[in-house]
Amino acid sequence: MSPTLRFLTGITTTGTPHLGNYVGAIRPAVEASRRAGTENFYFLADYHALIKCDEPARIQRSTLEIAACWLAAGLDADRVFFYRQSDIPEIPELTWLLTCVTGKGLLNRAHAYKAAVDKNTVAGTDPDADVTAGLFMYPVLMAADILMFKAHKIPVGRDQVQHIEMARDIAQSFNHLYGEHFVAPEAAVDEFVAMLPGLDGRKMSKSYDNIIPLFAPPAQIRKQIAGIVTDSRAPGEPKDVEGSALFQIYQAFASAEETEALRKAYAQGIAWGDAKQLLFERIDREIAPMRERHDALVGNPAQLETILRAGAEKARARATPFMAELRHAVGLRNLAAGPTAPSKGKAAKAALPAFKQYREADGRHYFKLVDAGGRLLAQSTGFDSPKDAGQTIARLKQDGIAGLEAFLQRPEDVDAAEVSSALAALALAQS
Ligand code: TRP
Repeated sequence: MSPTLRFLTGITTTGTPHLGNYVGAIRPAVEASRRAGTENFYFLADYHALIKCDEPARIQRSTLEIAACWLAAGLDADRVFFYRQSDIPEIPELTWLLTCVTGKGLLNRAHAYKAAVDKNTVAGTDPDADVTAGLFMYPVLMAADILMFKAHKIPVGRDQVQHIEMARDIAQSFNHLYGEHFVAPEAAVDEFVAMLPGLDGRKMSKSYDNIIPLFAPPAQIRKQIAGIVTDSRAPGEPKDVEGSALFQIYQAFASAEETEALRKAYAQGIAWGDAKQLLFERIDREIAPMRERHDALVGNPAQLETILRAGAEKARARATPFMAELRHAVGLRNLAAGPTAPSKGKAAKAALPAFKQYREADGRHYFKLVDAGGRLLAQSTGFDSPKDAGQTIARLKQDGIAGLEAFLQRPEDVDAAEVSSALAALALAQS
């Protein structure tokens, strides 16, 4: 059996999902979550929302709406990991451990932070004016989201790729210091996913104020579709599909045959009003059954809360033991359990075999070789001077034990294989 591939993505809980979110993120993710041999993590990134939004009621409402949208669109909460970021206390806990291995310079280079600084610089204000530490730390929190669940693939938009690369860097820094605990994640940018134009033909986005909300009442959707920008060609005049936002939106919902039929209708001069009616009907056909589920969920927040808490419990079954492992790795440990052998990383020196030179009561100079745990592997006979002892150590290191038995006490008791692996470990550490 091939190992399970884990996909993970977060949805910041500001705003109300629109058709662009549905086509570009929700629909493909719901389809992808049904692939065999994968585990899929979808979570409401409400800690991230606090970075952008200081209106509590909006955060709460958006969390409710986004959760309802994903479930209404067919996400099976029993099959995937569907949870709210702030229900996982291990996430902020991990954020701190990662903060301590993240270079400040790395964060200085984050696009979102840099853009804010550049804007201030142009405006002639203090470079960090109105920049919160939350914005600065955004990539670290995101790295914690990803690394906590050992996700391999992170489906995101192009604007998020840098954050995934940072999560990778942060994972590597931690692994280098404390051992291989984290999986290095990779961004998965879907080149083919439809980029939906908005009412004005630019990309559908809240910041352009050109969106069609996913679950607005049908009458509102109809009205907004009527407002999609078209050219002024009259009924009967052939129309261009190229550059037609209406056509592109239709295509994102229609089958290949339906799209062909509309293409023909354009060539035959369909009236814009009729084309808009077709588009409304096509969207409504896909959305109407989901709208019912959505409205039922939004009308029953207690049920949503129960679903999210069950999701958190399922996620924490992974996060809690992993966090315990990580706490131990960095040295946040139960004192009563006593010291344990230092592992990799900063403590690596202490965990190597070693030569120890010393002088006995007989006035002569000796050395011994001990393994990483301090166990005696070999002990020398006496030398007249520390220099003689040192030169013999050097020969041992260079040539191994063969031929030097005469300088060892009870050479028949010395395990040559253990000595040579200790010498190899030392050579490696010094290379
Ligand atoms: N920053 C992401 C966005 O704005 C949301 C997000 C938070 C996320 N944590 C994540 C995405 C972890 C992927 C993985 O789109």
